[in-house]
Amino acid sequence: MESKKFSLLFLRAKLARPGALLLAVGLILFAAHAADNTLVRNQFTPGQIWHDTAGQPINAHGGGILFHKGIYYWYGEAKSGRTFLPDCNKSWGGTRVDVTGVSCYSSTNLYNWKNEGLVLRAEPKSPEHDLHTSKVLERPKVIYNRATKEFVMWMHVDSQDYAAARTGVAVSTKPTGPFRYLESFRPDAGVWPDNATDNEKKPGATNTFARDFQKGQMARDLTVFVDDDGKAYLFYASEENATMHVSLLTPDYHHTAGKYARIFIGRSMEAPAVFKRAGKYYIIASGCTAWAPNAARMGVADSILGPWRELTNPCVGNDADKTFFAQSAFVLPVPGRENFFVFLADRWNQWNLPESRYVWLPLEFSATGDAVLSWRDAWQLPDSNQSLRAAAQN
Ligand code: DGJ
Repeated sequence: MESKKFSLLFLRAKLARPGALLLAVGLILFAAHAADNTLVRNQFTPGQIWHDTAGQPINAHGGGILFHKGIYYWYGEAKSGRTFLPDCNKSWGGTRVDVTGVSCYSSTNLYNWKNEGLVLRAEPKSPEHDLHTSKVLERPKVIYNRATKEFVMWMHVDSQDYAAARTGVAVSTKPTGPFRYLESFRPDAGVWPDNATDNEKKPGATNTFARDFQKGQMARDLTVFVDDDGKAYLFYASEENATMHVSLLTPDYHHTAGKYARIFIGRSMEAPAVFKRAGKYYIIASGCTAWAPNAARMGVADSILGPWRELTNPCVGNDADKTFFAQSAFVLPVPGRENFFVFLADRWNQWNLPESRYVWLPLEFSATGDAVLSWRDAWQLPDSNQSLRAAAQN
């Protein structure tokens, strides 16, 4: 009996051995893979999967960066779930995924990002809510109000078919949230743009901004920009995406203040990213081709409300006409590295939006002051001295 038991145990151990071996190999491979994902990074690798400090792919699309008290916060669309196939009869013709919320990652060096979780969450139980799962939440941007010590998030919220075209606002006392959703609205209701002509404003005028005068202007892709004097501005793709608007915000940054201008009239620009360099305002944007890449647009102005002058595509080299298969999201002036900017863009995967990648590139200025974006497989931030020397040469 005893010997039978022993031989059974022996047999089990023998049979288990290949399984155990496989398990061990699997564990080693898994550990090696996890270790690779959690590597401490010291460079940007545009277009590659970018893992956070826990080894998970970063999920913060169409986003922007806030630098606060020595820490960078990266906010973006947390995309997950299945992609809805396009309805080709619709002019927006694109896919979307259910709203899950806005994600936030923190970093001290821009290379390595810790997931701070969802700082604004979808409202799956309230079908009427702007943030209901079935709707659209895109391009969240967070700015800090020095006067009120509040973090204010602006985002494009929309109906499933992108017809609502509204801006949403949420606030928090901490950069890592939770953000409290305030409301959505169409900006600048009942106000004429500063640069509208008398003809465009007269009763019966058929232009799009006159059509939307009462209920407010259409607002899709957006960004917010805080100027040196603390005044903040909203840039939004309006008038059926044909014309960009720039609108002053109220001192609390919760609303548009009723002063705005139409810029790049009829140029159909979206995905705006705005920054200031040597006293001039710059915008990088894209054309309107849904999720498909196109040639970047650029503009410059002496005054933020315009007039704006269009420049040429800053991208050079192969695939410049497709912005390296990416679309602008944000331009980050790197603190402590004077005159150095990072261009942040999304390489959308329209058939699987959560799988979309990030393309971050250095935005350089030539000796004549022209912006240049060129492709890099991998690159690092210059040290402060280098960038100061580069700045001195410009
Ligand atoms: C282009 C915009 O930039 C994106 O944010 C998104 O709205 C897609 N269009 C939808 O087609």
